[in-house]
Amino acid sequence: MITVIANLKGGSGKSTVTFNLGLWLQMKGQPVVAYDLDPQQTLSDVAEVRREEGYTPPLQVNQPRETLMDDMQYHPQNTQVLVDVGASNMDAMRQALTVANRIIIPVPPSQPDVWATQRFLEIVNELSLATNPEMRVFVNRADTHRAVRESDETEEVLRQLPGVGLVEQRLYQRTVYRRSLSEGMSIFEISKRSKAVEEFNNFAAILYPNL
Ligand SMILES: Nc1ncnc2c1ncn2[C@@H]1O[C@H](COP(=O)(O)OP(=O)(O)O)[C@@H](O)[C@H]1O
Ligand SMILES: [Mg+2]
Repeated sequence: MITVIANLKGGSGKSTVTFNLGLWLQMKGQPVVAYDLDPQQTLSDVAEVRREEGYTPPLQVNQPRETLMDDMQYHPQNTQVLVDVGASNMDAMRQALTVANRIIIPVPPSQPDVWATQRFLEIVNELSLATNPEMRVFVNRADTHRAVRESDETEEVLRQLPGVGLVEQRLYQRTVYRRSLSEGMSIFEISKRSKAVEEFNNFAAILYPNL
C-alpha cells in the first residue's frame, strides 16, 4: 500500500503525521518505508534525530534512486510505503500522486487552507490518475477551545468536497506533536495515555482498519 501525505501548503502537518503514522504502523508489526520528497526534508531530519538518539525501531526514510515509480518495484507488496510531499517541488508531487494508492490531505482549520485544499484537488483531478487513488481529508491542528468554530466549519466544507472522504477523527492542536518532531519520538512513546494519543490511535485505525 502506497500512501501519500500531501497538500499544497506548508505547516499543515504532513511530516508530523507521516512520522507518527510510520512509527504507529511499525508498532503494529508492519514493514514500513518512508520517502521524503519535500525539499524541507523535515521527515529525514526527524528520522535522523531518532537514529542518533538510538530509539528503536528507527524509521527508514529514503530518497528515490531515480524516480519514485522505479523505486516501488524494490518493495515487497506487503510493505507500507509512506510518501511525504510538499508543493515546493511539483515534479516530485506529480510523481508521488502517480504511484499513490491513497492520498491523505491534512487541513488546518483556516480559510486559506481550505482554498489551498480545493486547488490541490483540482490539480489531482487534472492529472486523471490511472491508479484512481482513494482520497482522504482531515482536519489537523484543530482548536481545542469549544468557542472557536473554525474547526467545525472547516470540517463541514471538507465533508462536502466531491470525490474525497473525510476522516471522522480530527487531530487537535497538541504540544506533544512539536516535541515529537524535536525529540525524534512518536507521540505514543512520549506519552502513552493522553488525548493526543487517543485521537491519533482512532485516526490511524480509521485509515488502517485491518491492523
Ligand atoms: N496536531 C498538531 N498539534 C500541534 N502541532 C502540530 C500538529 N501538527 C503539526 N504540528 C506542528 O506544526 C509544525 C508544522 O508541521 P509539519 O509536520 O512540519 O508540517 P508540513 O510537513 O505540512 O510542512 C511543526 O512544528 C509541527 O510540530
Ligand atoms: Mg514537511
